[in-house]
Amino acid sequence: MYRTHLSAEVGTPLVDSTITLAGWVARRRDHGGVIFVDLRDHRGITQVVFDPDDAALFAQAEKLRNEWVLSVSGRVRPRPEGTVNPNLPSGEVEVYVTQMQVLGRADALPFQIEDEDVSEEVRLRHRYLEMRRPEFQQRLKLRAQMISSLRRFLEAEDFLEVETPILTKATPEGARDYLVPSRTQEHRFFALPQSPQLFKQLLMMGGCNRYYQIARCFRDEDLRADRQPEFTQLDIETSFMAEEEIKQLMEAMVKQMLRDTRGVELSEPFPRMGYDEALARFGSDKPDLRNPLELVEVADLMDGVEFKVFAGPAQDPQGRVAVLRVPGGSQLTRKQIDDYTAFVGRYGARGLAYIKVNDTTAGREGLQSPITKFLPDAALSGILERTQAANGDLLFFGADKAETVNAALGALRDRVAADLGLRREGWAPLWVEDWPMFEYDADEKRWVALHHPFTAPVDGDVQTLVENPSQARAQAYDLVLNGYEVGGGSVRIHTPEMQQAVFRALEIDETEAAEKFGFLLTALRYGCPPHGGMAFGIDRLAMLLADAPSIREVIAFPKTQTASCPLTEAPGPVSETQLRDLHIRLRVKPQVAAAPTEGDPA
Ligand code: AMO
Ligand code: AMP
Repeated sequence: MYRTHLSAEVGTPLVDSTITLAGWVARRRDHGGVIFVDLRDHRGITQVVFDPDDAALFAQAEKLRNEWVLSVSGRVRPRPEGTVNPNLPSGEVEVYVTQMQVLGRADALPFQIEDEDVSEEVRLRHRYLEMRRPEFQQRLKLRAQMISSLRRFLEAEDFLEVETPILTKATPEGARDYLVPSRTQEHRFFALPQSPQLFKQLLMMGGCNRYYQIARCFRDEDLRADRQPEFTQLDIETSFMAEEEIKQLMEAMVKQMLRDTRGVELSEPFPRMGYDEALARFGSDKPDLRNPLELVEVADLMDGVEFKVFAGPAQDPQGRVAVLRVPGGSQLTRKQIDDYTAFVGRYGARGLAYIKVNDTTAGREGLQSPITKFLPDAALSGILERTQAANGDLLFFGADKAETVNAALGALRDRVAADLGLRREGWAPLWVEDWPMFEYDADEKRWVALHHPFTAPVDGDVQTLVENPSQARAQAYDLVLNGYEVGGGSVRIHTPEMQQAVFRALEIDETEAAEKFGFLLTALRYGCPPHGGMAFGIDRLAMLLADAPSIREVIAFPKTQTASCPLTEAPGPVSETQLRDLHIRLRVKPQVAAAPTEGDPA
């Protein structure tokens, strides 16, 4: 037998028993004729001891190197006084080894397993090494426990798990598709699903009633800490339920999951907020409510002031002038303010005006700022009153198109709260609801769906939608947790007339609609139940549960920022034959290494 116990089970109650452990050599120490080995398994570390009394065994132990794989047997004994390690669960005892089997040897490692200071590229190339850390194992376990809890909930609620195709047609979630060329059908391509959206709707039309799936999704988009090109959704759809019922069910599921995995009890209903209010108060459609800072609108106070930087956006219907009050912020140095100015620049802000509030009773003399000279007394006192500024505060200003101000001050709000330690601990869920149906895409010069084109409008009247698409509201909802969008969903359109009206509003003409979504439009004609659902980002939820800084830390084999895998070196080149089979010729040949010219080193 390779093992009788796991490290996590080793402790004082086992003293005097003979046990067998298996694992990796985390560390070997030679101490005055005795060899100590920290033996690591997926649950923890146990100290095992080799004594020179058994010369043959001792000689073997002297050869052990880091990350060799062993099975050792011996007696559990208390550690001598003064050598107890309170940091290890097994720290009060050690195993006095009488037998050892070397099961695997290891070369010198590219990095030490516990070394935190290793580039991500190197860690990912040897992900199986990094994975040996018990903390990493713990994160994988937490993720599995979370999925298990979600499944339990859904099964108890009569949801059926159904798999949907990976080789499919383009599914519009707004990102670029990953394409797979067809060998059997020349010049044709599959797209990998950005989500199972249309299939889950078809399942409802197929009478499946309640569906879920732990579904892999593929989106070729710019990557960030919370975005991967392939990621996992808990995908859910149900028929004959309205928005309110769906939200309540999903909320109960998330509560149970937090209880099961983290022992967190969120007994109150999750707060809810309209999309417009979220943007107005936090500059974001996924605000972290643990952060007390808020934006305050002051455009009306700036209308007509001499300072053009503010007056312009104040008079622009698409403009916004907002203030972020930072309590105690007048301590910020010039350098810090310059850093914040550069920071908001990344979000398109053209500056970051500020006022330091020294004395609220002293009028303009009590304010320190490069811009007060451009502003009349009424505007200044209006700002102080509106923001409820106190002595020692600092006010940051954003003035631009509303979109830019929201992006810049929304991000600054998070950054400042993190820097100044203003954010409370704990869990802050929030439903963001009452979304507009459409948003104008200034780059593409057309309306796009804020959720996706299958989302039902609040007003079910086709004529209203056709006449005034910009005013239409969606039966859509996002679940935000600690400032991350962890889920989103909607009630769906279930009549062909409304679906076509929405396509028209999105300037998807009939030919295009038929080509892309003909199968959906047809299915809608054969008896479609009202239905709706939601999808949760499993990776984001796992990241939050694990207190990890990025979803890459909770995915066993993630991709890098450039959407590649250092471990397998995917994506990789393919042979000419494979390309020919797929009817593909590369437009630009991969560069052949140039022949060395004279003088080049060989
Ligand atoms: P949506 O596009 O909002 O909705 O996706 C649902 C949730 O999936 C997560 N997510 C991601 N996680 C990691 N990397 C990504 N690139 C990524 N993109 C999205 C987010 C998000 O909230 N079909 C609809 C759902 C529905 O309407 O039922 C959909 O896919 O946590
Ligand atoms: P300027 O008139 O460009 O010297 O700017 C005066 C102050 O206003 C500086 O502190 C700038 O950082 C700030 N500022 C400039 N443009 C904006 C803007 N769009 N929003 C907020 N502050 C700005």
